[in-house]
Amino acid sequence: MGLTKAYGNRLAVKGLNLEVARGEVFGFLGPNGAGKTTTIRMLVNLIKPTFGEVRLFGQRLAHKPGNILSRVGALIEQPAFQSYLSGRDNLVVVGGYTGGVHPRRIDEVLDVVGLRERSIDRYSTYSLGMKQRLGVAAALLSDPELIILDEPGNGLDPAGIVEMRELIRKLAQLNKTIFVSSHILAEIRQFCTRIGIVRSGQLIADRRRR
Ligand SMILES: Nc1ncnc2c1ncn2[C@@H]1O[C@H](COP(=O)(O)OP(=O)(O)OP(=O)(O)O)[C@@H](O)[C@H]1O
Ligand SMILES: [Mg+2]
Repeated sequence: MGLTKAYGNRLAVKGLNLEVARGEVFGFLGPNGAGKTTTIRMLVNLIKPTFGEVRLFGQRLAHKPGNILSRVGALIEQPAFQSYLSGRDNLVVVGGYTGGVHPRRIDEVLDVVGLRERSIDRYSTYSLGMKQRLGVAAALLSDPELIILDEPGNGLDPAGIVEMRELIRKLAQLNKTIFVSSHILAEIRQFCTRIGIVRSGQLIADRRRR
């Protein structure tokens, strides 16, 4: 509520009021520099708001970030994977940060993102689309209720964008709440149940679609 982030005297996010309901697929649409990534970084406690607060699942994020963020999976900009490890081993490493993940769960998320067959190949041999999908797989490891994806289609070719779109549709069918940012309406309009448009750090439109 009233979420604001200032960098020096520039306001990247200005008094953003936004509530996303459980089960929604919310598209956060805006041009470069609109404040999407800054907003998302505040949502996952990577940076602190200058004013205002983030509430997730009805609780103040600043209050118990660890508990709350264990229910959230996020893909923000380029995920940091080890190039010499396989996709699968990278997921083992990511899972290790939160106390380890069952190998069966790793297979499940690899299936969801369509990387099972390539899972033993080195990350450095992956195409950009595969790298992005591995990032989504990492976000899914803990079976989060809320999935936050910052421009998952960035840098992908048309086929990669279609694959990512199908993947997000699949996640929506699993009854997850999804918050996905983009600067291209065509990329997200087909699967979002609601689209908010952000410009210069402010929400200028908010439409429910289905
Ligand atoms: N760490 C930072 N220090 C200073 N200014 C920043 C920082 N991060 C972002 N900004 C500024 O905040 C504004 C919003 O940036 P942000 O990255 O949130 O936009 P975005 O909507 O994610 O854009 P894009 O579509 O290019 O990813 C921009 O003016 C940017 O220059
Ligand atoms: Mg961004």
